[in-house]
Amino acid sequence: MDKFYVTTPIYYVNDVPHIGHSYTTIAADVLARYHRLKGEDVFFLTGTDEHGAKVAQSAKAVGKTPLEFCDEVSRKFRETWQLLNVKNDEFIRTTAGFHEKAVQKILDILNDQGLIYKGEYTGLYCVGCEHYYTPGELVDGKCPLHMKTAEMVSEETYFFKLGDFQERLLEVIKSGRMVIEPEERQNEVVSFLEKEKLTDLAISRSKVEWGVKIPFDPSHTTYVWVDALSNYLTGIGWPENMKKFNRYWPADVQLMAKDILRVHATIWPALLMALEIDPPKRLVIHGYFTVNGHKMSKSLGNVIDPASLSGTYTVDGLRYFILREFSFGQDGDFSIPRLHERYNKDLANDLGNLASRVLAMVERYNDGAVPEPGPDEEADKKLKQVVLDAFSKVDDQLKRVSFNEALASIWVAVNEVNRYVDSTAPWVLSKEGKTQRLNTVLYDALESLRLISLLIYPFMPSTAGKLYSQLGFEADIEKTDLKKAAVWGLMDRNAKVRKGDALFPRL
Ligand code: MSP
Repeated sequence: MDKFYVTTPIYYVNDVPHIGHSYTTIAADVLARYHRLKGEDVFFLTGTDEHGAKVAQSAKAVGKTPLEFCDEVSRKFRETWQLLNVKNDEFIRTTAGFHEKAVQKILDILNDQGLIYKGEYTGLYCVGCEHYYTPGELVDGKCPLHMKTAEMVSEETYFFKLGDFQERLLEVIKSGRMVIEPEERQNEVVSFLEKEKLTDLAISRSKVEWGVKIPFDPSHTTYVWVDALSNYLTGIGWPENMKKFNRYWPADVQLMAKDILRVHATIWPALLMALEIDPPKRLVIHGYFTVNGHKMSKSLGNVIDPASLSGTYTVDGLRYFILREFSFGQDGDFSIPRLHERYNKDLANDLGNLASRVLAMVERYNDGAVPEPGPDEEADKKLKQVVLDAFSKVDDQLKRVSFNEALASIWVAVNEVNRYVDSTAPWVLSKEGKTQRLNTVLYDALESLRLISLLIYPFMPSTAGKLYSQLGFEADIEKTDLKKAAVWGLMDRNAKVRKGDALFPRL
């Protein structure tokens, strides 16, 4: 059985879950659900990144211990994913004992290989934040949070010989062993690695207490990125459960926004090489959700809360919108009027209305029973072809992680069914007593809806389930085997369809 391992970044607990995080997480969920439907052995990992000076500070500010603070925010992330119907296989926290132990083991391995040395780190430090800033992060040389001038300070630290990996990193990327998508992003990384000399990486902090202790010098804690990146290994069992680890590694798709690509394209594969572990197969990079052109973040105070939006537009409405509206690689400005428009047009009208029209007609003209179709006419053949074609298109588009294109392909099918119903006009067939033709049209419309429920399932799992049961199926749509189900003619002749509630009530 094929396996599919997909990850999101683990999210910082000094932020609150917002639409930006939801974007990556929902995208990963769609891939995971799609691959499960194809019968693959899927592992989908997400979690929270909980160490570092900033976290300890945020905790202090609200009168909590760092762990109490992390427990609370981490729970908020988990609850948000539950609310958004995200079905991850594991939720990793970097404060989990097994993870901390594994991070120490990684450091020991690097140290044993002679890849770590003690040195002096010099940087711009804000005493208020207990944090080093790069010159670019400072505003007029001042820390953006405290508005205090950052001081140039030095501290003793351990370095990882990242610089030694430059050539090997280039080789891993250029050979296609680790693919970065979209291509422009890969080109960016390659040109960076060709032009700039990679410097060694300070991987410990003596001034930060809230972190994983360096095993060979407990007066230092581990740099958060080394701690955080390791989650992709420890979340699938490394080093305790190597059977599980070997089953899922290398990751098939690692999703993230462009802000953290460089770290994932340099430090991450270098650490893996040092551990003699293969690189991930694909890093897939998406753009930012912006609000009036600014990246969404707690510090900018412009976050959009997915929970409140899903109250108005439904969870599936939100899942649909954020993946339909923008191409995955590009930035997109989040607009509530656009969400409103798409909800009413694509979901309430094109899909919801289609389903209720067809189901109501089957109730009215055939007492809710699935009718027996007669011979095909041209219109029927065309319908079948368009609806079945959507499966191969979506498969190709999801392989390329192009969600908006996949949804567009599904809507080609949805609109074709709408056109089919309009042009075959079952209400006229009924009036004229053309029963056999009426039965064929109703059957084909039902069958199209069944196939559409499978197509939309990864994106809108609860709507798909609702539609599937309105079509008279008792089984859980999630358990469907896509390979067997994506063929024409499987409506259950003994089932009764029922109109039920509207899938997307108009707003
Ligand atoms: N903790 C690190 C990641 C460690 S992974 C080993 C981190 N966390 S984060 O919470 O700041 O952001 C993580 C990810 O959240 C981004 O890469 C991106 O996937 C997602 N997004 C956060 N804000 C976003 C937007 N405004 N728009 C789109 N995605 C955004 O970095």
